[in-house]
Amino acid sequence: MEFVEIDLEKIACEARKNAIAPFSNFQVGAALLVIDGSVFTGCNIENATFGLTVCAERVALFKALSEGKREFLKITIVTDASKLSLPCGACRQLLWEFCGDIEVEIVNLQGGVALKRVKELLPLPFDRSNFFEPVDK
Ligand code: THU
Repeated sequence: MEFVEIDLEKIACEARKNAIAPFSNFQVGAALLVIDGSVFTGCNIENATFGLTVCAERVALFKALSEGKREFLKITIVTDASKLSLPCGACRQLLWEFCGDIEVEIVNLQGGVALKRVKELLPLPFDRSNFFEPVDK
């Protein structure tokens, strides 16, 4: 079987170019790798009420989920910030709930790279196990 390298960083950089970030001027791109080898992209989308802003990671995740994808391997997130920019709390929660402990690759346009795991970013999560597991008293 031919092994085709998927350049998630390049794909995320392309997605970042579509960011709508006139208020923060902080453009973010994301590329989410599905277990079947497909990739879903996202960019941040801001609006005039500010509060309805959606992060690049969530756009990518919801696009994938809405297309029926359920198993994920990795997400790559790109900004042009010199300090590598980790996913916000809301995105960490959703990545944990829908992707589990996948690899999170953080890159910037200056060549910086950091590799994390979702569990590392959200070590004590709240999730559906809190509803279904018996509670120790
Ligand atoms: N942003 C993301 O897209 N992903 C993150 O993980 C952190 C923040 C966006 C939201 C907003 O448009 C801008 O970056 C500044 O917070």
